[in-house]
Amino acid sequence: MTDNIKADEIVVEYAQPEHAKYAEHICDLIYESALQRGTGIARRSPEYISNKITGGKAVVALHGDRLVGFSYIECWGHGDYVATSGLIVDPEYRHLGLAARIKGKTFELARLRFPFAKIFSITTSLPVMKLNSRFGYKPVTFSELTDDEEFWRGCEGCVNYDILKRNNRRMCLCTGMLYDPKQPLPHNTASTPYIMMMKNKLKKLLHLKK
Ligand SMILES: CC(C)(COP(=O)(O)OP(=O)(O)OC[C@H]1O[C@@H](n2cnc3c(N)ncnc32)[C@H](O)[C@@H]1OP(=O)(O)O)[C@@H](O)C(=O)NCCC(=O)NCCS
Repeated sequence: MTDNIKADEIVVEYAQPEHAKYAEHICDLIYESALQRGTGIARRSPEYISNKITGGKAVVALHGDRLVGFSYIECWGHGDYVATSGLIVDPEYRHLGLAARIKGKTFELARLRFPFAKIFSITTSLPVMKLNSRFGYKPVTFSELTDDEEFWRGCEGCVNYDILKRNNRRMCLCTGMLYDPKQPLPHNTASTPYIMMMKNKLKKLLHLKK
């Protein structure tokens, strides 16, 4: 179907309360993609997603009245940190540059609503690492992310949660990436995310074998 779709027919915008009707569909898209990738995912309920939408903390991509992409933000540690999470693009709409547009809008929303907060993302996805590094996120250890218990409790629904627990929350299969508004932007090359992923995999392999 991607061949017939023009990217400029798709609107990427801040979610409005009327988009809450898509909450269940968003959860299904996220869950089905996680099953397909065979990776873990912090499962969210339709109510949780709906609250993000009505609370002005989400971005939607719409093709007419079909929801084709989504992401949301949440603040942690009393507003010191903001996580950008739940990025999903409908499988029929991938490779059109939609994730890049959604990520851009989500980053803009996070900066607008929480201008002094550090922005972070935890992910196993190479495309997401690539996009994050373009916005100036740097790979960090989990100790540099929020210590808000509530955030980490969100990982309990993930199939890899035992790994996180076993490592005393110091590392898991996700890579943590952080944008600090006080830091000058790092100089990234096209190979940065690949080097980062390999380093991370090696580190985890060595650590998890212990
Ligand atoms: C990851 C995902 C959001 C990418 O969506 P998309 O709209 O197809 O991505 P884009 O077209 O904007 O591509 C963004 C970049 O990632 C790259 N990319 C996209 N899919 C890729 C893949 N499967 N493997 C490697 N690179 C990929 C693109 O080439 C592009 O890089 P470039 O700008 O250097 O060309 C989508 O595949 C998805 O929803 N996956 C399932 C959910 C998921 O993994 N979410 C992230 C959880 S944290």
